[in-house]
Amino acid sequence: MSAPLRLYVNIDHVATVRQARRADEPDPVRVAVLAELGGADGITVHLREDRRHIQDRDVRLLLDTVRTGVNLELAADEEMLRLAEDWRPMQVTFVPERRQEVTTEGGLDLEETGRRLLAAVAQMRAQGVRTALFVDAREDLMRASAALGADAVELHTGEYANARTPEGSSAQLGRLRAAALAAREAGLAVHAGHGLTYENVARVAAIPEIEELNIGHAIISRSVFVGIERAAREMKAIIMAARHA
Ligand code: PXP
Repeated sequence: MSAPLRLYVNIDHVATVRQARRADEPDPVRVAVLAELGGADGITVHLREDRRHIQDRDVRLLLDTVRTGVNLELAADEEMLRLAEDWRPMQVTFVPERRQEVTTEGGLDLEETGRRLLAAVAQMRAQGVRTALFVDAREDLMRASAALGADAVELHTGEYANARTPEGSSAQLGRLRAAALAAREAGLAVHAGHGLTYENVARVAAIPEIEELNIGHAIISRSVFVGIERAAREMKAIIMAARHA
């Protein structure tokens, strides 16, 4: 049996355009309303330590206005945990964060940061916040994520998205399938994201264990041409068709 599949639209890049001018438009809060009208099942934002795109004000207003749910991506550091405890979003996804990176480059290193994540997951749980860990598609990491008490893993789909040959792409898809199954067996909900596009998403959406996709760059890019509502609707149609094929 397939789990139902949710589309979470990551709207960080709307804030990236705004911050390019340090102006007040385009406003990601207004974009979130239209993404929801286009069929988004939730809104994702990454509040980075350097505040390069999403600002604290955006998160506060989104929490007040989003009618689906807010998935807040965070590094598990003291400042972010304090904010998340205060805000109590529907879901927190812990991600690794490095200042110099253009975007999140790899999954969490559970060996190096396991103790911090164990405490962070417990802290969020105590507030009734659902937790996900962004991890590479390796079966051992699924068991480790379950041991840290997380509700879900978000499988890093970047290597699948970056594969340049059909063989490479199929090999990466195989890793995602195996990891999704291992996560389910470990009692975790399975999410996925990073680098997914209108062209490559269908094969990931067809993995029956996956119940949530987080997609940003491709949807915001298309929205420049067709508007965010239509861009969200077109992505939702592709993933639903893939799931029901
Ligand atoms: N999931 C996580 C954990 C991310 O950090 C990102 C990028 O912000 C995404 C999903 C979305 O990736 P993309 O913008 O390539 O769709």
